[in-house]
Amino acid sequence: MSLGKRIMDWSAQAASHSEPGPGVTRLLGSPEHKALLADLDGWMQQAGLTTELDGAGNLVGRTPHKTGLKTLIIGSHQDTVRQGGAYDGMLGILLPLAVLQQLHEQEKSLPVNIELIAFSDEEGARFSSTLVGSSALAGTFNPDILNATDREGATLASALRSLGANPGQIPDLKRDPSELAGFLEVHIEQGPILEALELPVGVVSAITGIERHKVHITGKAGHAGTTPMHLRQDALLAATEVVRAVNDLCQNTDDLVGVVGELNVTPNAVNVIPSKVELTIELRSPVTRIRESARQQLLAQLHEQIVKHGCQWTHERLYEQQEVDCSPAIQKQLTSAITARGWQPHTLFSGAGHDGLAMARCTPIGMLFVRCTDGLSHHPDEAITETDADAAAEVVKQALLNWEVPA
Ligand code: HGY
Ligand code: MN
Ligand code: MN
Repeated sequence: MSLGKRIMDWSAQAASHSEPGPGVTRLLGSPEHKALLADLDGWMQQAGLTTELDGAGNLVGRTPHKTGLKTLIIGSHQDTVRQGGAYDGMLGILLPLAVLQQLHEQEKSLPVNIELIAFSDEEGARFSSTLVGSSALAGTFNPDILNATDREGATLASALRSLGANPGQIPDLKRDPSELAGFLEVHIEQGPILEALELPVGVVSAITGIERHKVHITGKAGHAGTTPMHLRQDALLAATEVVRAVNDLCQNTDDLVGVVGELNVTPNAVNVIPSKVELTIELRSPVTRIRESARQQLLAQLHEQIVKHGCQWTHERLYEQQEVDCSPAIQKQLTSAITARGWQPHTLFSGAGHDGLAMARCTPIGMLFVRCTDGLSHHPDEAITETDADAAAEVVKQALLNWEVPA
């Protein structure tokens, strides 16, 4: 079986572990997550890896340890956004796994030990946390998030325990940078550039900086028929000012993107003036200074916009992650592997966040992007081709067999 076919077959099987509904929904600690772990564990063992579920819910597959060699960590995330696609995250686990299985079958040895890691939670879709698994390895895990709760009130800690993970072990997961040969993540591009260039793969130069905020707007519920318009304190009307302000600021600022992605209305009833709105704001930029100044500008503007509707508001910063550069040495190795496999190398920036944002805190990182159809992601129609999966796998195999550990 070709590497591409194996990757596509595994991807289809992994995608079946989803909540009902469009696309793939597989959240941290869910029954779907647990079912996927069983498949991944079996596939990793078939590839000659010894497996372990760590305290952060990461499934770790290790090649037989060779003394004196450093360890290259390869991996990506097994969780998805709600109604997402089959390849965001999973491709970065299954593609290297297919390569490792083939090398195992061919009894080929590598110049490094390998840890293949299926990170437990990168998207943060259930608990508004993110990079849970990778931050544990980097030693930057914030234990406060263990008490984060989902829409039903369950905690992140209980979600990890439901997988059979022991969060008490998280502090012991920090990797010793001196033992590492880097971190490599394969990921769909989630954008249109490789498709426009007619290239199957690309080398990532840097990953964007991201911050997320939660805003609570409080107005006053009232009868939608009898409350005069000028006496209303409509929290949803105030929230529309926030949505518009975020969009206008980002439209008018270079190197800045943003969105109000989540918005929950209370009581959300057809004939009641909304009393509360809870929404999220996300800002991203490759330049910290641009993102910080945009935040300050936005927060100053929002007060006036919300108060003029007779509403009150509070806000909390949920998450901030600086942009990170990919290792020039690893970029060079990936570029050589692409050239050696007969493809035109191309380097591009990542507007999406990845586990590399955390892993960069403990070892040099590299990313290989794989072309995806229409650049679509975080969508049920997210797709790649078997041919591109095969090409990318051959590039990864070429890179692993020739991996040079930076001095
Ligand atoms: O949001 C992101 O960029 C990533 O998909 N977590
Ligand atoms: Mn994603
Ligand atoms: Mn991803």
